[in-house]
Amino acid sequence: MSDLASYEAKIQSAASAADLDALELEIFSRKHGALTLAMKDLTALPPAEKVKKGQELNRSKQTLTDALATRRNELSQKSLGALSSEDKLDVTLELPPKPRGHLHLIPEFIRQVEEVFGRMGFEVAEGPELESEKYNFNDLNIPDTHPARDSQDTFWISDIKEKLPPDKKFVMRTHTSNMQIRFASTHKPPFRIICPGRVYRKDSDATHSPMFHQFEGMMVGKDVSLANLKGVLVTAMRELIGRDVEFRFRTGFFPFVEPGLEMDMMWQGDESESREGKWLEMGGCGMVHPNVLKNCGIDPDEWQGFAFGFGVERPLMIKHQIPDLRSFYHGDLRFLRQF
Ligand code: PHE
Repeated sequence: MSDLASYEAKIQSAASAADLDALELEIFSRKHGALTLAMKDLTALPPAEKVKKGQELNRSKQTLTDALATRRNELSQKSLGALSSEDKLDVTLELPPKPRGHLHLIPEFIRQVEEVFGRMGFEVAEGPELESEKYNFNDLNIPDTHPARDSQDTFWISDIKEKLPPDKKFVMRTHTSNMQIRFASTHKPPFRIICPGRVYRKDSDATHSPMFHQFEGMMVGKDVSLANLKGVLVTAMRELIGRDVEFRFRTGFFPFVEPGLEMDMMWQGDESESREGKWLEMGGCGMVHPNVLKNCGIDPDEWQGFAFGFGVERPLMIKHQIPDLRSFYHGDLRFLRQF
C-alpha cells in the first residue's frame, strides 16, 4: 500500500506529459500495474480483510486517477503559457512578397504599340493567320512572279501546283499587310488602324524565326501625306523605344506602296562604339498604292493613305540586348523573369 501511496507524490511532481503517461502505465497497466497486482493479491486474503483492503484499494485508485487528471491539466496550462511568452508572434510584421508573374515581353510591347497609336486615333484590328492568297498577295498588288510567293519563303497550306482561284488557296500569312485589304475592303474611309499579330516565313536562325510578330498600320483619308507618315512613325517609335533614338528613311520597294520607304533606327547602346553600321532596319512603309485602294473598292482619286509594317522582336532584341531571337519562345523562366 505504501507503495501505491508514494505514487501520488510522484504524479504531483511529474515534469512532463510523457512522465505522466509512464506513471499511469506503471500503476494501471493490465498486466504489471502496481494497482492491478494489488487487486490480484486480494484473492489470497481471508474474507473480512478482503473487504477492508478492497475498499482501501478502490480509494487509492480514485485518488491516483484524480491526481493524474489534475497534473495533466496543470502541465498543459503551463505549456500554453510558455508558448505565448516564448513564441512571440508579431502580427504587424510584413510578409515577404508573393512571387508574381508578368506579361511576356512580346505581348507587353504589343500592348504599348496599341496604346501609343491608340492615343493618335488608331483603332486595333485583328485578322486570321491562315490567309488566302488573295488577301496575302494578290490584292496587295504582289505579282504572281514575286519571290515572296515562293514556297522556299512561304508556308503554303494548299498545293501550289494546283490551279485554284486565289481566294481558295491558303498560306500562313507572311506579313500583317493582309489586314490592309481585310479592313479597307469592308470599311469606308477615313480610318486609321493598327494590326498586331503573328506572321510566318521559312526562316530559322539566331535572328530569324519561322513565326514572329509584326504590327501593321494604315491610315486613309482625303489628304493624308508622306509627311503625316513620317510624323506619326517618328512620334510613335520615340514613345516606344526611347526619346533620343535617331531615325532615318530610305527608299525601298514594296509592291503595295508607292513611294515605298524603309525606316531605320540608330541604336546607341554603347557610347564608345562607332556609329558606323549601327543603323537597324525597323520595317517598311509608304503611300498606299492606288491599285491596292482600287482592289478594296476605294477611289484613289478621292482618297489616299499610308501604310507601314514593323517587326516586334527586332527592336526588343536591341533594347534588351538579347542575342538570340529564339529565347523569346523557349518559355525558360530564367530568361523571361529578367524583364
Ligand atoms: N509587309 C511588309 C513586310 O513584311 C512591310 C510593309 C508594310 C511595307 C506596309 C510597306 C507597307 O516586309
